[in-house]
Amino acid sequence: MAFMVAGTRQYQGRTMKESHAHLNITPREWDRMVTIFKEILAKHKLPATETQELLDIVESTKADNVVSGG
Ligand code: HEM
Repeated sequence: MAFMVAGTRQYQGRTMKESHAHLNITPREWDRMVTIFKEILAKHKLPATETQELLDIVESTKADNVVSGG
């Protein structure tokens, strides 16, 4: 069980690892997701600082979402 506070709401769902383990997401698939994510942020002209902040947040979940090896 994960507990994460965002504003006044508290997330009580499954952890990232529990949610994604059965999906067997490969590093290659992860990289593709990051590429598409960057393209979308650029399309909407998100400034560089905010873009980097979001990419850092996403990257911080990689180890829990991606299968090793791949
Ligand atoms: C920053 C990266 C990601 C975050 C924060 C994230 C977050 C989440 C959350 C909160 C859930 C629901 C957990 C629950 O139901 O308890 C979820 C489920 C899911 N995610 Fe992600 N996810 C990420 C990356 C990915 C990627 C890269 C993929 C696919 C390539 C993916 C595919 C899925 C799928 C298919 C489910 C549903 C799993 C199921 O219920 O069987 N996620 N994700």
